Amino acid sequence: MSFIPVNEPLLNGNEKKYLNDCIDTGWISSEGPYVTKFEEQFAAKMGRKLGIAVCNGSVAIDAAVLALGIGKGDEVIMPTFTIISCAAAIIRAGATPVLVDAHPLTWNMDINQIENKITKKTRAIMVVHIYGLPVDMDPVLELAKKYNLYIIEDAAEMHGQTYKGKPCGSFGDISTFSFYPNKHITTGEGGMIVTNNELLAEKCRSLRNLCFIPSKRFVHYELGFNFRMTNLQAAVGLAQLERLDEFVVKKRKMGERYTSLLKDINNISIPIGRTSYAENIYWVYGLLLKPETGLDAERAMAKLGQEKIATRPFFWNIHEQPVFNKMGLFKNEKYPIAEDMARMGFYLPSGLALTDEQIDIVAEKFKKILQQ
Ligand SMILES: Cc1ncc(COP(=O)(O)O)c(C=O)c1O
Repeated sequence: MSFIPVNEPLLNGNEKKYLNDCIDTGWISSEGPYVTKFEEQFAAKMGRKLGIAVCNGSVAIDAAVLALGIGKGDEVIMPTFTIISCAAAIIRAGATPVLVDAHPLTWNMDINQIENKITKKTRAIMVVHIYGLPVDMDPVLELAKKYNLYIIEDAAEMHGQTYKGKPCGSFGDISTFSFYPNKHITTGEGGMIVTNNELLAEKCRSLRNLCFIPSKRFVHYELGFNFRMTNLQAAVGLAQLERLDEFVVKKRKMGERYTSLLKDINNISIPIGRTSYAENIYWVYGLLLKPETGLDAERAMAKLGQEKIATRPFFWNIHEQPVFNKMGLFKNEKYPIAEDMARMGFYLPSGLALTDEQIDIVAEKFKKILQQ
C-alpha cells in the first residue's frame, strides 16, 4: 500500500497558465498585476471591501494587531487552543494574551468564558475559527460592542465557510487568512488581511512594505516589515480562488465520508456535522480519543504511521508552550478541555487530493488499530 499524505493540494486549474503569464511578462515580484487582482477578488468573495496580500497567515496576524495600535499595557482575549502565531503576534506587539478554554464540542474558544476575562486593559477579542466550525460570532460581537473592543478574526482555516450565511472573514474589524498548502486554497506560502476600514488597510499596506513613504523613498518614519506576496504566489491564488466553491463541496463530502465510516466507534469523538449557525467545512478531519482506547494521540499517530498513513497532532495549547512559560506567562493557568484535546486529538489525512478509496483505507486501518 502506498503512503497516504496528511495533505496534498489540488493544482490542476489555471495555476500553470497564470504562472506562465508571470514568467512570460517578467512580473514575478510583488509589483505584478496578479497581486491586486487576487486581493480584490478574494476580499469580495469574503464580503470585504479591501484585501492586503502578505507572505503568510502568521504575519497577517502580526500586521493586524499592529495596525489596530495594540501594544504595551493592552490585553487581548483569545483561545488557548490555537496555533502559536496568534499569541506570538500579541506578545511581539508588547501586549498580553488572556486565554480562554476550548468548547468540548466545537473545539473553538468557549465564548461563555470571554466576559469574565474582560478588564480595563482589554482592547480586543481575537477569535480563531478552528478546524471546521466557526466561532459563534453573535454573542462575541455583542460583547465587543458592549465593552468597545476590537475583533481580530483569524479565519486562516475558514475560506469558504459561513456563519449564519455570512462569510467567515467578514466579522473582524480586521480578519486574516492563510494560504499554506493545507488550506482550502493555497499560494504555497501566503496570507491575506481583509477589512472594510481604509485606514487599517493603509496601515497594513505600509507595515507590509517596510513603511516606505511615497514622497521620499528610503526615508522611514516608522518601522515596518517585508511581508509582501509575490505575483507568482498571487497568480496561483487567483487560480485557486476560482475553484473555492468546488473545493468547499469536496471537503464537505470528504468529511461526511469519514463520519459515515467512523460514527459507530464508541471510544472516540468525531467532529460534529453542524451547529445552529454553520455546517462543518472539515478543514481537517480531527478526532479525539477517549481514555478507554488505551491510546493517546502520539501512540495512535505512531501506529497509523506504521501503516503509511500520515497524521498531525492537534495544536499544543498556548498556556503550555515552553517559550511562553519561560517568559513567565500563564503560570498555574489550567484549561482542562483544551489540555485534553492537545493530548488526545489528532487529524487524519484531509487534503483536497485525497480520494474516496484513501479515506476508506484510513478508516479501516484506524478501526483495526483501535481493536488491537
Ligand atoms: C488558525 C491559524 N492561524 C494562523 C495560521 C498561520 O498561517 P501560516 O502557516 O500561513 O503562517 C494557521 C496555519 O495553519 C492557522 O491554522
